[in-house]
Amino acid sequence: MKYGILKLIEENKGNHISGESISQLLGVSRAAVWKYIEELRREGYGIEASSRKGYRLTHTPDVLNEYEIGKYLKTEALGRHIVCFDVTESTNDAAKRAGAEGAPHGTLFIAEKQTKGRGRLGRTWDSGYRKGIWMSLLLRPSISPEDVVVVTLAAAVAVVLGIRDVTGLCCGIKWPNDIIAEGKKLCGILTEMNSEMEKVNYLVIGAGINYSQEDLDFPPELRGHAVSLMTLLANNPVRNKTSRSIIVAEVLNRMEELYNMILSGETHRIIDLWKEYTITLGKRVRVISIKDEYMGVAMDITGRGGLLVNLDEGVLREFTSGEVSIRDLE
Ligand code: BTN
Repeated sequence: MKYGILKLIEENKGNHISGESISQLLGVSRAAVWKYIEELRREGYGIEASSRKGYRLTHTPDVLNEYEIGKYLKTEALGRHIVCFDVTESTNDAAKRAGAEGAPHGTLFIAEKQTKGRGRLGRTWDSGYRKGIWMSLLLRPSISPEDVVVVTLAAAVAVVLGIRDVTGLCCGIKWPNDIIAEGKKLCGILTEMNSEMEKVNYLVIGAGINYSQEDLDFPPELRGHAVSLMTLLANNPVRNKTSRSIIVAEVLNRMEELYNMILSGETHRIIDLWKEYTITLGKRVRVISIKDEYMGVAMDITGRGGLLVNLDEGVLREFTSGEVSIRDLE
């Protein structure tokens, strides 16, 4: 109801709409309209109220809610259920809990702040209030567990394409799925799965996109290594037209296209797109796996998303997990 009222006020673009009209159109009392208007104001919407003319929208904040994201969504399933948190521990944890309780495929979990944001390899993920896009997507793909890595590669491609569609900014992908711009990390992706031997029960794809941090907002160890979208767009004319909700929606729009390719057996198209945007292949890399570190040249990506590295000792080896650091970027 709250967002139904907002929609009516917004549709009147700059004009007033009376409380009486809203209450008739939506079948609620004028007192209830007033209560929802107050709630919307608390969320940051600027709504002018005049006793003679009614309500007028004067400002839309950069908040993440189902209404703002929904305005730009073109998907059938992804993001059609959205769970928004002001503050939560980790959206991946919320998505996993909901996955276990039967939440539908495509549900999006999104938070303004995470208090226990998690990164890959057991790291923490700095997730300050309204500083980024902290989101997790719950998927229920009918694929086998070994094909899951292609879904995570698709997620990286979706972020690159979504950001490019909205802002024109071209980012690169560092294997397996870090999004890099100007040599710094703009986004990280953490995929978690609940599966049986041959069947995936559900998959959680968590993405953290740095949005408005200044360099000093990052923890000291990340300064100079992480970057936000606003910093990258600082001198770019599209900056004012960008919002976190548009980016979220466009990433989901792109993700659904790529996800459908996977379901129709076209994983090679995901691999080809990933290769088109990667900055890893052909580079001298250090591969950090759970146990060891290896040096070599990244040669290719395999059909199942592994990284083929020509190791310094002359052996070609496929890595299916771990992290790479690219010597040129260091
Ligand atoms: C990485 O280490 O690069 C992955 C970072 C993933 C962070 C995101 S933010 C939303 C979601 N919730 C989490 O706790 N982690 C992921």
